[in-house]
Amino acid sequence: MAAIIIDGKVVSASVRERIKAEVSEMDIKPGLAVIIVGSDPASHVYVRNKKRGCEEVGFNSWVYELPEETAEDELLALIDKLNGEDNVHGILVQLPLPKHINESAVTERIVPEKDVDAFHAVNAGKILKGEDTLLPCTPAGIMELLSHYDIPVRGRRCVVIGRSNIVGKPTALLLLAADGTVTVCHSKTNDLPAVTREADILVSAVGIAGFVTADMVKPGAVVIDVGMNRDKDGKLCGDVDFPAVSDIASYITPVPGGVGPMTISMLLRNTLTAAKNIIKTN
Ligand code: GUN
Repeated sequence: MAAIIIDGKVVSASVRERIKAEVSEMDIKPGLAVIIVGSDPASHVYVRNKKRGCEEVGFNSWVYELPEETAEDELLALIDKLNGEDNVHGILVQLPLPKHINESAVTERIVPEKDVDAFHAVNAGKILKGEDTLLPCTPAGIMELLSHYDIPVRGRRCVVIGRSNIVGKPTALLLLAADGTVTVCHSKTNDLPAVTREADILVSAVGIAGFVTADMVKPGAVVIDVGMNRDKDGKLCGDVDFPAVSDIASYITPVPGGVGPMTISMLLRNTLTAAKNIIKTN
């Protein structure tokens, strides 16, 4: 039986509607500052979409486009300035950064209250401890998709392929916080298919087209594909062999149109949360 296709565009639109409704009742506008260094075309597309998302829900937004040769000190000085501005509630530095800039120094410079990517060690630590905090956007988007489709996590076997700080590790922690029984796999895992076949919920964040084949999936599993790859014809595709796996899964996310559309909506939600938290403490 064919799987139900999880529609990230529909869920993303409903999240944005809720944000927009909440903003219309607020006395101030939440504000997001986005910094991009250099001229990577894909990063510029992402930043444009973030600005458009802000406009859609009624936020203020500012985009700082800095040249490739910007010194780390200059970037840190801009972050310091934005950290101190009252109408800026969220700060995001688009990654990757040019090689001469230390990514960790930059993400640690944003005050945790305005860290809408949730990359700061304080926010990462709170997620590890299961404390209330801003949540990393892609993992939060995955949880929102599961919840929207009433897919239970509690007590179920969840397998995450990939252990990045941005996706794999925080996704595992959010599934654990939702009472899933979680296994994290990676490139050194022995007999990966034997592990992934245990999964009731399988999340792939590998970055290799066609990596997850049907023999790696238990019939009836929920399959979440975080991959953003190009196939041999240059077409956008995920990690999962979609035609074969969608025949045996119960639910599956497509690429494009699955997890991808959720990420910016979760960024907008974090910006709203940051704004409300900052207003409350002022
Ligand atoms: N580059 C690719 N994904 C992301 C993300 O989620 N946040 C930031 N800041 N940069 C990215």
